Amino acid sequence: MTASKYVEPSGDQKAGYLHYRRPASPWELFRKEEGIPVYSGFGVKNSKDLPRVDWERLGGKGTYIQLTGTNNRTGMFVVEVPARGALKPQKHFWEERYIVLEGRGSTEVSKAGSTAKTTFEWQPWSIFSIPINADFQIVNATSTPAILLAINSAPHMINMFQSKSFVFDNPYNFEERFGGNLEDYWKPAEEFESHPVQGRAMLKSNLFPDAAHCYLPLDNNRGPGYRWVSPNMVGNTSVGGFIAEYPSGRYSKAHHHGSGVVLICLKGHGYSYNWPAVEGGLNPWRDGKADLVKVQEYEAGGMVAAAPTPTSETWFHQHFATGREPFRVHAIAAGTGSQGGQEGDMVAGVGAEITDGGRAIPYYMEDPFIRQHYEEQLKLNGAEFNMPPEVYTESGANININYA
Ligand SMILES: [Fe+2]
Repeated sequence: MTASKYVEPSGDQKAGYLHYRRPASPWELFRKEEGIPVYSGFGVKNSKDLPRVDWERLGGKGTYIQLTGTNNRTGMFVVEVPARGALKPQKHFWEERYIVLEGRGSTEVSKAGSTAKTTFEWQPWSIFSIPINADFQIVNATSTPAILLAINSAPHMINMFQSKSFVFDNPYNFEERFGGNLEDYWKPAEEFESHPVQGRAMLKSNLFPDAAHCYLPLDNNRGPGYRWVSPNMVGNTSVGGFIAEYPSGRYSKAHHHGSGVVLICLKGHGYSYNWPAVEGGLNPWRDGKADLVKVQEYEAGGMVAAAPTPTSETWFHQHFATGREPFRVHAIAAGTGSQGGQEGDMVAGVGAEITDGGRAIPYYMEDPFIRQHYEEQLKLNGAEFNMPPEVYTESGANININYA
């Protein structure tokens, strides 16, 4: 932007314009310069179906995905690695996680000033993360293209530093994240730990060889039989989330918060509702506000934004397994989380219902349309309704029965 000379107001006049438009952010300008499409919206049935074009910087074909409410926060793209080829070597000062949608290959990772390479192999539904600022190259040794979905914190870093040489040509090695003996660095972990804040399951593993089919421990927080783990990968502090699974014939309670999180389906299929919490209230269909509810159907490779709003509004969202197999999703975001409070503040757990000071609508209080429509959808898909009847009673709403 060109600077112009400031003219001080006189008398009671206010300085500045009454209405102003914000200019494009450095991230938005960078995304434009990349010359590939940007898909926007609140979800997509399958991200593999989005058109991909030649992407000079990466050396494959790609598209950006910027779902509503994620702009300037979470970077997402789909990239196609050519058959018997590789993407260009990369290095960047942001955290990045990959989900393999199709194909098999390997990734070589090394650090500045070292010729030693670490390597691991990947297959459909592998999830891996690249240590921040490491050198890496994604290789496809097979005769068909590979398709990978990436999630990163590029928007934060590009907006903060506004310097391509800083983010792409920075010699700093994060020894504490990618250092010491790297022999077992990519060896998948199997030992679940207790999440230090939430007390739920956590797995410190830099590689998940098959995140669509690996064991997930029972959690029960979002619904009976709900399984959950929080992957802790390559020391990332910004890109994170959880992998969760709903049994066939079951669905989550609706809960509400602000925008930023994206749910990516890893297995099965389903749909999600999203509606503004204040405007839509607890029972939008019953109250004649069904038009406020956004519905997204998606399958493995598809996704939906949870709380798709660019404003500070909170939105309810609710997820439904419609297939005969479980519905597994990876919820992910870059740089979200409640950082505003004081150390030691108490926050209601995600399973807490509105009657307990939480944000979830108990099943017995939900809009009757929800269950009715869900049962119809299951029939269409040849699947059985499988919700335990006691969750629809006030006394049975909040008990953590061990639904295996
Ligand atoms: Fe949520």
